[in-house]
Amino acid sequence: MKPEQPRLYSELASWFHLLTAPSSYVEEAEFARKTLVEASTTPIRTMLELGSGGGNNAFHLKAHFAMTLTDLSLQMLARSRTINPECEHIQGDMRTLRLDRQFDAVFVHDAVCHLTTRTDLVASMRTACVHLNPGGVALFMPDFVRERFRPGVHQGGHDGNGRSLRYFEWIFDADPSDTTYTNDFAYMLREGNGPIRVEHDTHVMGLFSRGEWLDSLHEAGFEARMLEDPYDREVFVGVKD
Ligand SMILES: C[S@@+](CC[C@H](N)C(=O)[O-])C[C@H]1O[C@@H](n2cnc3c(N)ncnc32)[C@H](O)[C@@H]1O
Repeated sequence: MKPEQPRLYSELASWFHLLTAPSSYVEEAEFARKTLVEASTTPIRTMLELGSGGGNNAFHLKAHFAMTLTDLSLQMLARSRTINPECEHIQGDMRTLRLDRQFDAVFVHDAVCHLTTRTDLVASMRTACVHLNPGGVALFMPDFVRERFRPGVHQGGHDGNGRSLRYFEWIFDADPSDTTYTNDFAYMLREGNGPIRVEHDTHVMGLFSRGEWLDSLHEAGFEARMLEDPYDREVFVGVKD
């Protein structure tokens, strides 16, 4: 277990939807819905999300499926409840969560990037597998596989409820021989028309090759394949053996 989670998921969680807003997730959620439905041999009614965060994808997916949303952070679950009050929310670590029930599909979006060792990655996939009905499907959507890692910078942010956030993000790999890279964020936070407060946050992220992803999925009990999403990212679909 990593010693520290990003500040964005704890003391700064109330700002999350001003960093990344539910309205920006229409296309990504639709890609996830379509991919899961096409990979499944049976209709999908129930879906478990691991690392559901602010619930931005769930905000769109809940129109199609009964969503159970799980996350390590109580503060992030509270954020998600504000936009998804009708969904079930449960605190849990995707490496160890055991709900003793099965779902038709499991969805793991960018939260999986917070796993930085192969052991943790396989553990999260086992969690997905044990929560699936036979023939059930899982979709993992990491930001990068090693082969497509792109260092760089991004900026953005939103206004809402008397508060505004703008951010600058720097994606950097200090040691290409290990399984991590960093996303460093500078958040500029404004309440009303007041002065700006600047906060720094380092997110340590995992980086694995396409082969490691596929091998890990097989190890966890999936028939797996890679496909590309609309943003040129490689994502992974597993069907429970
Ligand atoms: C970028 S947010 C996810 C946002 C999400 N894709 C959405 O649609 O709103 C990443 C989330 O991963 C969660 N997380 C990190 N490590 C985790 C773990 N081991 N188990 C469960 N959740 C984890 C964090 O608490 C955070 O809420």
